[in-house]
Amino acid sequence: MSLMIEIRKVQTIGGHRTSHFIKSKTDAVIDAENLMLLPALIDPHVHFRVPGGEYKETWATGAAAAIAGGVTTVLDMPNNSPACSTKERLLAKIDLIEAELKAAKLPIRYGLYLGADRRHLNEMAASKKQIVGLKIYMGSSTGDLLMNDRSSLDEAFQIAAKNDILVAVHAEDEALIQHNRKKYADRADAAVHSLIRDPAVAAKAVHLAIELAKQHGTRLYIVHTSTREELSLIRQAKKEGLPVYAEASPHHLFLNTGLYSKLSTRALVNPPLREEKEADALWEAINDETIDTIGTDHAPHTLEEKNAPYGTAPSGFPSIELYLPLLLNACAQGKISLETIVSLTHTRPQEIFRLPLNDDVVLVDLNKVKTVDNKSLKTKAKWSPYEGMELKGWPRYTILRGEIYDC
Ligand code: DOR
Ligand code: ZN
Repeated sequence: MSLMIEIRKVQTIGGHRTSHFIKSKTDAVIDAENLMLLPALIDPHVHFRVPGGEYKETWATGAAAAIAGGVTTVLDMPNNSPACSTKERLLAKIDLIEAELKAAKLPIRYGLYLGADRRHLNEMAASKKQIVGLKIYMGSSTGDLLMNDRSSLDEAFQIAAKNDILVAVHAEDEALIQHNRKKYADRADAAVHSLIRDPAVAAKAVHLAIELAKQHGTRLYIVHTSTREELSLIRQAKKEGLPVYAEASPHHLFLNTGLYSKLSTRALVNPPLREEKEADALWEAINDETIDTIGTDHAPHTLEEKNAPYGTAPSGFPSIELYLPLLLNACAQGKISLETIVSLTHTRPQEIFRLPLNDDVVLVDLNKVKTVDNKSLKTKAKWSPYEGMELKGWPRYTILRGEIYDC
């Protein structure tokens, strides 16, 4: 007889209560009287820092944080040290991840991006079976991956189209960033970051990426969109029927430039925090389906690193365990429906990245209210920009590959 987890009396989005069964290695019963069943989340954008940044995060700590947040699939970025831009490095990275997950007994599902590097574009076709996409940094960020010359971009988009590889772009225009850096050279406060990497920096790169996708017939995924202008360009591309997809990140939905006065260099992220009106544009784009997915851009750095002066402090926020609570809290406030949360965090990423289906679920308590506390976070970085925020709606159990994990 096959063994099962029975989730009793669980609420579903349709509104009814039922028993839900999941194949398992053991028989178990969960009394889910006050819980809601959702498909486990996919996070299409994480930085788990292996290899080279293990002091910031490992796959053991990253997977623990993900599972605690109801996430059972993560797609990991290639800006490692060394950058993951060849098949050899990709295979070595997979070996490291497998060993870490096995030792931690946390068999999270994952996919990897290959990093675009003009010297290694011939690695794309050879790596295509091992990757979920090619990641192009059109502007510089953490790590040394940067590819912004037109001929390499043309070549990469063309090879990707030919090999049916999705191209994910960090769309910030490097030349404009450098120009603005000179313009604001007399400022050393963290808030200047949002002026140097202003909305025009993002729009210029998105414009070019869409042009390249159109020219070569490439599937394009634009990570962490954060401005009204980018979204207008993407909305237009979708209208034209181009295979262009957009991601938004929690920090651009839930935080804004007001955070600099409180967190200074800790508030640095690329693309930077925006003015509140840009978040309004993101919410509109979520509701008209211009935005396809939410990717956390979980990018842990230690507090010591984050507290360094402007120019030295790295950009990025840990956030994966708050991905679902932030969205459930927005749902409690009437900003988004549960159906839309499922589409953004599960259905659309599964479709866009062509991930195999699975029966992982998360059981959430929509009424639980808790304040975000750095000390209880599982990320190795042990901090988040959401510290002190009271959120309503938290995961209770995550079920991954037929195993129950307490959140
Ligand atoms: O803020 C960011 N941090 N943006 C990126 O593009 C990279 C990330 C990181 O890896 O730290
Ligand atoms: Zn990122």
